[in-house]
Amino acid sequence: VLESQRKIQARDLLLQLDRSRRAPVSRQLEEQMRGAIRSGALVADEQLPSTRVLAEDLGVSRGVILRVYGQLAAEGYICLRQGAAPTVRAGGLDTRTLPPRNGGGIVYDLRPHLPDVASFPRQPWLRAVRESLAHARVADLGYSDPAGLWDLRVAVANYLSRTRGVTAHPAQTLITAGSTHSLSLLSRVLARRGDRRMAFENPSHRILRAVASMGGQTVVRAAIDESGVRPDTIDQAESLVVSPAHQFPTGVVLAPQRRTALVDWAQQAEALILEDDYSAEFRYDGVPTGALQSLAPDHVVYLGSTGKTFAPALRLGWMVLPEALMDEVSRELACNMLHVSGLDQLAFARFLQCGDFDRHLRRMRQVYGARRSFITGLLAELLPGHEVRGIAGGLHIVLGMPSHSTAASVRLEAQALGIGIDSIDQHSFADSAGPAGLVIGYGALPEPTLEQALGKLVEVIRRYEEMHQG
Ligand SMILES: Cc1ncc(COP(=O)(O)O)c(C=O)c1O
Repeated sequence: VLESQRKIQARDLLLQLDRSRRAPVSRQLEEQMRGAIRSGALVADEQLPSTRVLAEDLGVSRGVILRVYGQLAAEGYICLRQGAAPTVRAGGLDTRTLPPRNGGGIVYDLRPHLPDVASFPRQPWLRAVRESLAHARVADLGYSDPAGLWDLRVAVANYLSRTRGVTAHPAQTLITAGSTHSLSLLSRVLARRGDRRMAFENPSHRILRAVASMGGQTVVRAAIDESGVRPDTIDQAESLVVSPAHQFPTGVVLAPQRRTALVDWAQQAEALILEDDYSAEFRYDGVPTGALQSLAPDHVVYLGSTGKTFAPALRLGWMVLPEALMDEVSRELACNMLHVSGLDQLAFARFLQCGDFDRHLRRMRQVYGARRSFITGLLAELLPGHEVRGIAGGLHIVLGMPSHSTAASVRLEAQALGIGIDSIDQHSFADSAGPAGLVIGYGALPEPTLEQALGKLVEVIRRYEEMHQG
């Protein structure tokens, strides 16, 4: 037990149940506890009362408390462990387990979110910066339109309809600082108009779920299988975040019949689909799938980013919105004054217009395709008993593991040796669902370094298996 841990009594939580309110008791408790963690009244590592104690103190059934704790754990606010008291996580996000952004202590970076920034096209980018600045109008250097520079919105809308089949009008195409920023804006806008239940695939990126929750959303889960998300499992959500082209982290693609079923769900439930078209540009087997957005532009918000395709450091992405959301989202962007630098937007518009972005993508597709073949070949040879999962696309593969706890132990051991890696359980809701595995990114490292890193990882896996045999 950490010294800083303080055991919270039920009365310390100052929970108040108003039985005259229409909101169910569990919803009231959930809101108050979430509020206490967000405001800092409950801080990281504090122990919460057991379900039995809290249920007795509040005069409610234990099932109610189980539901409340389950939901808060799914949103990342609290941590549940078998046989131990629940504890509070930092600010709803367990910052102790978030990957260090700068890769502190990591020698071999196999984390799935990293593209090969060493291949950043410095010379073409410098040319775009120089030329765009030389041609910039004086007005371009003043305050820019919060929705993005018009020239860039036109260039992005053209790029999306050309490469992803998105129905994109420049007036409905907004520039943001990337998909995380777009999701944060949408979460706040939807919450303000009363749409507060956002479904995420289980598993799905834990940081995105935390961002939605910080934006006022109650995060609920949707199950997935080898055909992608199952709309029949979405429990009363007003929106759903989904990555149809390449599900993160499992690497499956949303099957054609599921696409139709998902659109039917959105239309019937009058819900919104947030399509995270994450790393869709990278498909190495020649079977690209178009964006879901084109099937129902009024029910889908399309989210895109240069974070994987170019460089995360640029912080530049986009959203294509249904017309009905335009005003509210533009107002939210205008009010938070957090737009991408107009100078970077000018440079990226030029980079797109002169074909340099397409050239860069073509080159990177070859690089990543070769790396993927290399790593799948190597793993088949070194670990023949472990399945490699995920389509030939994106920047990571999933290496099958016998259980989520094995995968988590291997990940921690690998990290202790300086190998940065993810596992499926990190991105699952509280009860890890579906097949277990390690999520191995191959984007950031060239083949010789990948070979060294995988060699060390395989040693960790073999050692673990030997120790736990029988
Ligand atoms: C599943 C998923 N979606 C989207 C993103 C992109 O985020 P951003 O555009 O904010 O860099 C990431 C980055 O790690 C991701 O893993």
